[in-house]
Amino acid sequence: VIEDIRVRKILDSRGNPTVEVDVITWNGFGRAAAPSGASTGAREVVAFPEGGVDKIISEVEDIISSELIGMDAEDLNEIDLVLKEIDGTENLAAIGGNTTVAVSMAVAKAAASSYNMPLYRFLGGNIPCEIPYPLGNMINGGAHAGKNAPDIQEFLVVPVGAETITEAVFTNVNVHKKIRELIQAKDKSFTGGKGDEGGWAPNLTSEEAIEIQVKACEMVSDETGVLVKPSLDMAASELWDPASEEYVYNREGARRSTGEQVDFVADIIDTYGYFYVEDPIREGDFAGFAELTKKSGKKCLICGDDIFVTNKDILAEGIEAGAGNAIIIKPNQIGTLTDTYKTVELAKNNKYVPVVSHRSGETTDDTIAHMAVAFSSPIIKTGAVGGERIAKLNELVRIAEEMTNPKMADINKYR
Ligand code: PGA
Ligand code: ZN
Repeated sequence: VIEDIRVRKILDSRGNPTVEVDVITWNGFGRAAAPSGASTGAREVVAFPEGGVDKIISEVEDIISSELIGMDAEDLNEIDLVLKEIDGTENLAAIGGNTTVAVSMAVAKAAASSYNMPLYRFLGGNIPCEIPYPLGNMINGGAHAGKNAPDIQEFLVVPVGAETITEAVFTNVNVHKKIRELIQAKDKSFTGGKGDEGGWAPNLTSEEAIEIQVKACEMVSDETGVLVKPSLDMAASELWDPASEEYVYNREGARRSTGEQVDFVADIIDTYGYFYVEDPIREGDFAGFAELTKKSGKKCLICGDDIFVTNKDILAEGIEAGAGNAIIIKPNQIGTLTDTYKTVELAKNNKYVPVVSHRSGETTDDTIAHMAVAFSSPIIKTGAVGGERIAKLNELVRIAEEMTNPKMADINKYR
């Protein structure tokens, strides 16, 4: 039974304010914090009402406490319903999806703690034993870096050949180090600057960054014997110019129609053997997404983030259209753990790979590591270096140690 709830304003990794929530039950305790995005999807729930954290922080603790104290932390479905009722709007614009998601996650952690169970087992039911592969961020561009960085937002890698989570996270870091060397060799003036998710932020075009990324994957695969594959998050909604109806690559001065964008991405996938490409097409364009999926979806995961925003109704539209074969799962895009879970289930039932993900603005909260294991997500997207990223990766190492018989997930699961 919930006895007390605290809501406080804390820092996120960009130095912006966010909320952290403590839930205290008579024999348990849960704490969780909400992340925030920079390249958010238009149909996400609202993170905070206008005025930000400060607008709600003075009252929200009392409002939530008066409804939730006395409820059973185990009744997460009911608690999530009450949270949505408290807010009262369709898109959680009154108290903010970041507030509801932090409460929802803290309640789940308190319930797990009252059973003396790690969260992944409390949420995962029949004793999960699979660890997801970490999709690690290597080079940052777009909305996550300065204007001389590449137009494509994220250059990522997956250590598909790793046999343990420890091998996987250290393989990613090897690639990260190798990429720094390769950037420095190309650009003597590179100072080692990074973007919001801990990837390098070099003065390179997207195509130059792709070449370096692919080369680093090959070199590390050869040196370590662990196969590493390149991946991208293009965050294409950020490139889209509605006036000209083109994808605009400012850094290299290229413009591409939707058809050209589809061909450009399909070509990258074919030429370099990309494992995963996220948001290659802008949100709302299910037909464009479907066209690329038809072309490249057998070879590559075509993942929707801004297009689906962890929303099961929007995912259902995507499934209908054949748009993508994977979906990014970010709890604060939808606002509660219950609704996050519903989207994951719909994805899995339709052979869409759920990829549980961090956001560009993060805290050291490690809840998503537990969620990825509990939901048997074969891939977790959570960076490679930096305190707020390694919080999740190191928690996966601890989770694997806690399991009796841990194994890496089948990377091709649900396909
Ligand atoms: P965001 O971006 O957290 O800034 O929205 C991350 C992503 O696009 O995956
Ligand atoms: Zn994304």
